[in-house]
Amino acid sequence: MATPQEPTPEQVSELKAKYTNAAQDQVFTFWDQLSGSEKASLYQQLSGFDPLYINTITAKALAPVADDGKKASLEPLPDSALASILDSKPQDIDRWYEAGLDLIAANKVAVVLMAGGQGTRLGSSAPKGCFDIGLPSHKSLFQIQAERIRKVEQLAAKKAGVSKVTVPWYVMTSGPTRGPTEQFFKENGYFGLQPENVVIFEQGVLPCISNDGKILLEAKGRVAVAPDGNGGIYNALVEAQVLDDMKKRGIEHIHAYCVDNCLVKVADPVFIGFSAELNVDIATKVVRKRNATESVGLIVCKNGKPDVVEYSEIDPDVAAEEDPKQPGVLKFRAANIVNHYYSFRFLESIPEWSKNLPHHVARKKIPYADLQSGETVKPSKPNGIKLEQFVFDVFPLLELSKFASLEVRREDEFSPLKNAAGTGEDDPDTSRRDIMSQGARWLKEAGAIVESSEGVEVPPLTSYAGEGLETSAGKVISDNTVTIS
Ligand code: UTP
Repeated sequence: MATPQEPTPEQVSELKAKYTNAAQDQVFTFWDQLSGSEKASLYQQLSGFDPLYINTITAKALAPVADDGKKASLEPLPDSALASILDSKPQDIDRWYEAGLDLIAANKVAVVLMAGGQGTRLGSSAPKGCFDIGLPSHKSLFQIQAERIRKVEQLAAKKAGVSKVTVPWYVMTSGPTRGPTEQFFKENGYFGLQPENVVIFEQGVLPCISNDGKILLEAKGRVAVAPDGNGGIYNALVEAQVLDDMKKRGIEHIHAYCVDNCLVKVADPVFIGFSAELNVDIATKVVRKRNATESVGLIVCKNGKPDVVEYSEIDPDVAAEEDPKQPGVLKFRAANIVNHYYSFRFLESIPEWSKNLPHHVARKKIPYADLQSGETVKPSKPNGIKLEQFVFDVFPLLELSKFASLEVRREDEFSPLKNAAGTGEDDPDTSRRDIMSQGARWLKEAGAIVESSEGVEVPPLTSYAGEGLETSAGKVISDNTVTIS
């Protein structure tokens, strides 16, 4: 990146007027004390924001519009927009799988990874994707996901009888995660993928705001900023020219997912085939909510539109209702796992609506420069807010006919890494356990006798989803890792 130029006095007074007009000129408090290069970089940072827009989105985020006092009408998605791997006919699943592989073989499928989060709960200094969850192979999350892409490319190429298939992988990072992510991919030879097919791009940031609505400085010459949430994906796909790249490559179907799900079926042919057959613009995978009180967001039909409701927004009585068609099963059970399909034609419409997506408030402890002393203070309790867009806020823009949901098995497809080791929930131990037990299940289904009590690591290049393990039938597996060629 080019070194920023020190601005002229006219440029400074023009920018200062903009911030003064928005009552945000505290960001210039230390201007006269800054060196030339500090002035240049603060000027560049401040020029990237429109302070009136920041005021507007902050005010809206702090006072979201209530549903006109009326209770929203909530229903599960209609049957026409739903399918479940748990009870679909095998011939339907096979058909989706075959159709998805054909689309992959035709180089029409791409993958977008959301990896711009700061992973504060996990507490690792490196980006989450670099994390070693303690598998026998010590593969990182990035490596596991890259190998799944390679495997699905191989399966598609084999089916189509072609020598090469490409599933480009667009990795969304943010200011804090971009540099270390790029370095990790380079150091590891892009995990066997072609570097030109791994596009690392950066999402936007927004200033952090004090509890009284002021843009915070983190140091005398720097605004405190944070990534604009996983919903920042939409702006970033346009700004970073990812959509242009997809267009050039002829991409029509996109799988988007979160870096922290160690079981994610990257570019899952079944999901692609299902979504393409229904000709929807967005589809989402869900898992079955464990019980009425599990704290998960739910995919629902809210006021006639697809939407997500948080567990706190739903009445306990409603949450506990049973499905009249399936006694003993919750009526509202479609737990959101942020694992999506998009049609390319829909992503092309992003510029028409991305600015209208709401921002949400995350109250955080934000280090800030004291405006008297200029010293950076590390607060012990939340002193401000970060503004974030959510990737699923786009759902209500769609008609129900353009949206679908596919219920998948939690034990096969969802195990997020959120917390530090020892927490006992969504931590490195549960991630490792879930991959190893899946491997053991696959091998048993293929007829092997599994003796390893901690399960088995089956490398993605050996099997993507349990296929190709036939030669292990009758064999005793006592090791905790297998590679079958
Ligand atoms: P989370 O909301 O769980 O955040 O992200 P996180 O950063 O992983 O963890 P905490 O909350 O700081 O502990 C869900 C997914 O959204 C991505 C994350 O990388 C993860 O894949 N994300 C989140 C972004 O890509 N950008 C963001 O600004 C925020």
